[in-house]
Amino acid sequence: MIVTTKQLFQQAYGKYAIGAYNINNLEQTVGLFRGNLGKVKANDEPADPARSAPFIIQISRGARGYSDKRFLEAMIRTAEQVFPEAIFAVHLDHGTEEVCYDCIDSGFYSSVMIDASHEPLTKNIEITRRVVDKAHAKGIVVEAELGQLGGVEEDVVGSVCLTKPEEAAEFIEKSGCDSLAAAIGTSHGAYKFSGKQGLHFDVLEQIQKAVPKNFPLVMHGSSSVPKEYVDRINRAGGKLKDASGVDENQYLPAAKLGVCKINIDTDGRLVWCAVHRESFRDDPANFDLRPPGKIFMAEYAKFITHKNGKLGSAGQLEMVRKALKS
Ligand code: G3H
Ligand code: 13P
Ligand code: ZN
Repeated sequence: MIVTTKQLFQQAYGKYAIGAYNINNLEQTVGLFRGNLGKVKANDEPADPARSAPFIIQISRGARGYSDKRFLEAMIRTAEQVFPEAIFAVHLDHGTEEVCYDCIDSGFYSSVMIDASHEPLTKNIEITRRVVDKAHAKGIVVEAELGQLGGVEEDVVGSVCLTKPEEAAEFIEKSGCDSLAAAIGTSHGAYKFSGKQGLHFDVLEQIQKAVPKNFPLVMHGSSSVPKEYVDRINRAGGKLKDASGVDENQYLPAAKLGVCKINIDTDGRLVWCAVHRESFRDDPANFDLRPPGKIFMAEYAKFITHKNGKLGSAGQLEMVRKALKS
């Protein structure tokens, strides 16, 4: 069942965070649905309520252009039928104004992100307000971003610029956005921190105090870049040097401070890379795409179930279902 992120955040606020996972292809989609229902190997395994979680499927502009945006919609609609127990939101990740309107008009997305964070505050507010007005008229919710993450956001090269709590309050009031992606020290990709840097919990705490009560915050760039996967990739011929991510044990403390949505994309790519490198190393005569694809779907499902455990969303699916009915 497709719901809005707002409906999910109402249940999660202050208790746990919802995993927001990017998809680009069939194998990621199947692994994602299985993992969020605690299934590993087969679509028709019974769901495990203790490990089942509500989740957010994220689609980036890059993903929409990878094959054709219509394939993604068709795949998700099919997944909804194959996994009727699932409760999830369909969200545009890092949209421009134009792409937001395309998603709003499609009638498929339940949530869009307008990312005008590279613009000065007033322009960011103006652009976000226009998107909010169009989205709300159709019952779609809007995530916006203030401050800039380190690393590369698609074609926007960001320099780290943490969100200013006083600007966050003004931004939310004037833009009318439903959730706010705040820059609190993370960055996109596999090289987030050098040395002992980490999340700026002090800034997050100030932001939570400054914004309206129970206002949902979002954390981008939250892959943990597990050493286990980086080592597997490097052992199988990869060259990922000094990769590092967010400590998974910081997800729940962030959730307690109002972070309701935690974005994870890079980790899924690392799982994909480890599985495929190992598969071709160990079976060099194989040229069938399905053996590694099968292993990947199972490993990705396991990985998602593990992540949801760290986010606190595992085991929450039935509570969310009940709340949605009442
Ligand atoms: O924030 C960016 C996401 O990880 C999406 O990445 O633009 O390469 O699909 P992508
Ligand atoms: P990662 O690169 O840490 O997975 O972040 C993904 C993200 O923020 C997508 O919007
Ligand atoms: Zn992001």
